[in-house]
Amino acid sequence: MRRVVCPGSFDPITNGHLDIIGRAARLYDEVTVAVLINLEKSGLFTVDERIEVLHTVTKEYANVKVQKFHGLLVDFCKQNDIPAIVKGIRVVSDFDYELQMAQLNYRLSGVETLFMPTNPEYSFLSSSRVKEIARYGGDVSGLVPDLVHELLIERLRS
Ligand code: PNS
Repeated sequence: MRRVVCPGSFDPITNGHLDIIGRAARLYDEVTVAVLINLEKSGLFTVDERIEVLHTVTKEYANVKVQKFHGLLVDFCKQNDIPAIVKGIRVVSDFDYELQMAQLNYRLSGVETLFMPTNPEYSFLSSSRVKEIARYGGDVSGLVPDLVHELLIERLRS
């Protein structure tokens, strides 16, 4: 069984994330989407809300599962027998940041990191920008799954 993890905060998931998850699901037998529980940073959505959304938007992929984790990603990988991490790279600055993390993760544990170029259609996209646009009434349709679009409008209205 070839396993891989797609880790992130997913607050909320964007179409860029979903594209990477879907492409990983075509390459691997099992993809675990791992949502970081970050005790220092409270998100717009709770971790459980993000997990519920992730379950819904990945349901077309039978080999994708969703879990939460805290602590080191490589410990999560070891506990779940996952030998590799997949990361999307949007721009060169992502590579600078991700390379250091990949090398540290390999040094710590032998867990490999594979970089997947983001679909150019989404290379400008991030969860923080999506939240900012939605907060000021901008249109984020087409940038996030429809469910996320609805939830953003609902959450930011209240
Ligand atoms: O979506 P994000 O916030 O860019 O995801 C970052 C994430 C969760 C992949 C990263 O912060 C992470 O792996 N955190 C877990 C702690 C850890 O393992 N840090 C790396 C030490 S080299």
